[in-house]
Amino acid sequence: MLYPVTEKNLELAAAAIRNGDLAAFPTETVYGLGGDAFNPSALAKIFEAKARPRFDPLIIHIADITALENIADLSLLNSTAREKVGCLTAALWPGPLTLILPKQSRVPDLATSGLATAAIRFPSHPVAQHLIRLSTGAVAAPSANRFGCLSPTSAEHVAEQLGDKVDIILDGGRSSVGVESTVLDMSAASPCILRPGGVSREQIEAVIGPVTMGNSNTVVTPASPGQLKSHYAPGVPLTVHRREEMIGLKFEASVGYLFFDGASRDAWLEKGTGHHIHPLTRTLSEDGDSIEAAANLFAVLHEMDRLGLSRIRVELAPEGGLGDAINDRLSRAAAK
Ligand code: TXA
Ligand code: MG
Repeated sequence: MLYPVTEKNLELAAAAIRNGDLAAFPTETVYGLGGDAFNPSALAKIFEAKARPRFDPLIIHIADITALENIADLSLLNSTAREKVGCLTAALWPGPLTLILPKQSRVPDLATSGLATAAIRFPSHPVAQHLIRLSTGAVAAPSANRFGCLSPTSAEHVAEQLGDKVDIILDGGRSSVGVESTVLDMSAASPCILRPGGVSREQIEAVIGPVTMGNSNTVVTPASPGQLKSHYAPGVPLTVHRREEMIGLKFEASVGYLFFDGASRDAWLEKGTGHHIHPLTRTLSEDGDSIEAAANLFAVLHEMDRLGLSRIRVELAPEGGLGDAINDRLSRAAAK
């Protein structure tokens, strides 16, 4: 059930988490399905509700920087890495950045799928922060969707996919960033982005210098299991196209066309190949702003998924900034 954000409902959700139950809540990236990170039975409920394989570890959310060292053992890092972690948390937390760090032994194996590292994030959304502080200070929360399906950027999206699995969904409106956090591995020899997301590579490099991009597309045991090739997928088949290719496409009946910006949509409409058809089009950002496009991405895909289309054709975003996260999600949605 959807609960508007009030003090009373926040306390209700916090009590559920303290008692080992689950509550869904808004973050700036996507909605999360939260449970006490230190309660294995709550963690088991998360996997169960999402139908998520246990090899896919969870992100632990904190709302106070001092909680970091309850979860991560920074003494296992070398001094350069430790310094970089300090710079990253100072510059980019709270925000859409998840750090992979050596874990404290008290963190349950179920949270980390038995890995020696934990994923930790300090979200900037005030409701998320409030809930984390009121509950247990460490909330494990994957995106509140069924495994492999589109991520939720509104409380309604959560209700559609998990309404029968979670009693409390705090409704904080639409998520402003719209794509998940960037997952940055700081436990490896050199920093590596395992999942592009709401903080761009450029923003990270401005703080700690060069980072590599983990290409886990082809590996059998992905370093970051959320990077399985087919993921974030709508029910309708989806095909991605580069800009020039998209503009050259013929109009097809029952196909939906999702453009990155108004300019490419207009260029395509002007060509009008097959003009007896009124194509169904959507645009991620009229002005081609990748931040706006990311914020709209999942909501538009959820909407197009419900229109009874035979296929969705999507224009890829220009590379760089949030374009990398958008293209990552689109390519995985297409891989189904
Ligand atoms: O924006 C977000 O990060 C959202 C909101 C709710 O905070 N959460 C989210 O969680 O996207 P989830 O579970 O959908 O994605 C977590 C990602 C997965 O790709 C998982 O494999 C990776 O983080 N991950 C978690 N722990 C890891 C670890 N120890 N090493 C490598 N990757 C890890
Ligand atoms: Mg997810």
